[in-house]
Amino acid sequence: MKIPFFDLKRQHARLKKEITEAITVVMDDTAFSGGPYADEFEKSFAKYCSTRHAVGVGSGTDALHLVMRALDIGPGDEVILPANTFIATAWGISYVGAKPVFVDCDPDTWNIDPSKIEAKITERTKAIIGVHLYGQPFDIDAVQAIAQKHLLKLVEDCAQAQGALYNGRKVGGFGVAGCFSFYPGKNLGAYGEAGGVVTNDPSIDARLRALRNHGSTAKYYHDELGFNMRLDGIQAAVLSVKLRYLDEWNARRRAIARMYLEGIRNKKIRTQKPEPGAESVYHLFVVATKDRDGLKKHLEANDVWPGIHYPVPCHLQKAYSHLGYKKGDFPQSEALADGCLSLPMFPELTDEEALRVIEVINRY
Ligand SMILES: Cc1ncc(COP(=O)(O)O)c(C=O)c1O
Repeated sequence: MKIPFFDLKRQHARLKKEITEAITVVMDDTAFSGGPYADEFEKSFAKYCSTRHAVGVGSGTDALHLVMRALDIGPGDEVILPANTFIATAWGISYVGAKPVFVDCDPDTWNIDPSKIEAKITERTKAIIGVHLYGQPFDIDAVQAIAQKHLLKLVEDCAQAQGALYNGRKVGGFGVAGCFSFYPGKNLGAYGEAGGVVTNDPSIDARLRALRNHGSTAKYYHDELGFNMRLDGIQAAVLSVKLRYLDEWNARRRAIARMYLEGIRNKKIRTQKPEPGAESVYHLFVVATKDRDGLKKHLEANDVWPGIHYPVPCHLQKAYSHLGYKKGDFPQSEALADGCLSLPMFPELTDEEALRVIEVINRY
């Protein structure tokens, strides 16, 4: 029995009829770019996140980019973020000409280590982007307190955390803006590229709406340099269908995670320690071990196919070599990059498959 890290075909098989009908409605209406289906999804996603506004954009990367613009961050400014995240968290900062300033992660929760943030704050720092890594909210209270003390904006990168809870509230609305990716493999994924921003601030909402639409508030009048980063009607219709299943899917991910956490009994394996007050949605179930390549080979030899998220931390990526970081700067992020392995995790994974993964890991 081959057990993949992720299999979207199982979800599509269940939803095919419903999704095809939803896409057909958009096609018959020729409402392809923005339009009523995008508006409808924005309304339901804002409601889901308990925020006042949601703005659909082209991808999670667009979401982060446009939020940096909307906060008027630019050349000469610095933005703090964790070193161990998907690179796109940093892209938005670089796109506006600002400088990403990386911070190490906590050795146990693998999220940004709040105790290391203040040492990185300078008079140029404008914002902190926290990442709810692998679906588990970071220590929002601690990071928020630092942001407030230093008059910095807090932005949440929620790309991996649709529906995750912190102190009983959905992520996205804690900072000035929450950025979501709806990449097909995410907990809530489109049938192509899509993203969104949630916010409680009407001025950020208005600015994002203009920025994504060529800097325009009235057709053919352009108030600032804008972008074409609108949400597609077809993607919005797909997302509206899938949003109805998100809680069910997240509950199933949590059930699989519980099986893993209770079943894995191997001293060589560590798992992500829960952040107090946080309820993960387990976008990924990552384990860490000293001999990652050995564990990977062992799993693959038993037809279990894991992933790696991520093999190189942002500060050591070639694209950021000009920032002058070196190996040893962020020991926790580097150790995680060397030791992490993502076990099969998706709602359609069966109990039988999860038990088989546990059995194989325990034999390692
Ligand atoms: C943490 C994080 N931030 C940002 C992104 C970028 O999202 P997208 O791929 O939709 O541009 C992703 C996912 O790819 C991500 O995992």
